Amino acid sequence: MDLNQVRRQFPALMQSVGGTAPIFLDGPGGSQVPQSVLSAMSAYLGYFNSNLGGAFFSSDKTVSLMNEARQAVADFLNAPSVEQIVFGANMTSLAFSFSRAVSRDWQVGDEVIVTNADHYSNVSSWRQAAEDKGATVHTVKVNETDCTLDLAQLEGLLNHNTKLVAVTYASNTTGSINDIKRIVERAHQVGALVFVDAVHYAPHELLDVQALDCDFLACSAYKFFGPHVGIVYGKREHLEGFTPYKVEPVKDIIPYRWETGTQSFEGIAGVVAAIDYIASLSEMSADTPRRDKLVEAFARIKAHETQLSQHFLTRLAEFKQIKLFGIASLDRLAERTPTFALTFDGIAPREVSEFLGAKHMCVWDGHFYAQGLCEQLGVMDKGGVVRIGCMHYNTIAELDRLFDAFSELLA
Ligand SMILES: Cc1ncc(COP(=O)(O)O)c(C=O)c1O
Repeated sequence: MDLNQVRRQFPALMQSVGGTAPIFLDGPGGSQVPQSVLSAMSAYLGYFNSNLGGAFFSSDKTVSLMNEARQAVADFLNAPSVEQIVFGANMTSLAFSFSRAVSRDWQVGDEVIVTNADHYSNVSSWRQAAEDKGATVHTVKVNETDCTLDLAQLEGLLNHNTKLVAVTYASNTTGSINDIKRIVERAHQVGALVFVDAVHYAPHELLDVQALDCDFLACSAYKFFGPHVGIVYGKREHLEGFTPYKVEPVKDIIPYRWETGTQSFEGIAGVVAAIDYIASLSEMSADTPRRDKLVEAFARIKAHETQLSQHFLTRLAEFKQIKLFGIASLDRLAERTPTFALTFDGIAPREVSEFLGAKHMCVWDGHFYAQGLCEQLGVMDKGGVVRIGCMHYNTIAELDRLFDAFSELLA
């Protein structure tokens, strides 16, 4: 992967702010966007803005765009069919609407499992659905030494009353990756469904819903170099079997029965371009199937991001005043994304992010809606953590500038 060539495709990375090149380490809050995505969105709005089902060219274009987009996302997720791809406003809205439909038959005595590793979109949605039906909610903790999920606790909670496990593929705060395949296997043994939040995982590693065998998987395109569009994959039997709350005239067939209102077609044009952008990182010939390109592209992304993590953790070890929450071992980089949760001795997270922000280094502070995690780690009432989130477009030189700023701050 030629990093200069990659970076040149992102207008945000090429700009100068206050005379310096800004450094974007805010990826887990939303990634930067390549020019091809911007062009696809403005071309759709500029020439084809229309709704579905009209007897004219721009409406035909919108229909073909939606078909193309479902295929692109099916390739991205390795979904068996395009009908299993549902679009929506964002992951949170979709999680709430799926939780409403999936919980229709829950009753007192049923159980649901959520986790402290999760963003609350995948907690509140299921917790509130369970409350409405009198079902019991169990919350799995993380192991505080490395912020991985306490799998033993999760497996101990599973029983024949468990209806659903809602679990994140990777923590948006610490970067720890969960063993979803194993969780799905164990959950299915007791007849429970698994709803996977892949929002943080999606820009970093290849998704494969068939290999995971998960029941549902959600992601959000603005985290993987696209615009603000939410996506859910579901197993066909569930998308057909559960009954969504829908507007009556909408066709009662998948995926349409799950989609509410008019979609952001320009956003969806951007989703196709974002997936094609990722595929292009493979540098494979144009006639290579998109899924094969994505497999190679994510291998390259992982290789580069592993170098970034290695460098970050090695340099971080020089700073005794900074505490890392999450996997620190260089031997375990396969188990994390390059997202790092930090606290600084005697300096509030907001002060750190403001200090860096003044140098046009963009990092987030706070709890990022990972409320259970921040409460368990005892940082909720201390302003949360500082989150350094690398993406494949970040460089070692940018990390060195960040560590220079840390030295200055701590001097
Ligand atoms: C891990 C994770 N899940 C879910 C969400 C919510 O996604 P959306 O903003 O699309 O609702 C976020 C957003 O930050 C996230 O990081």
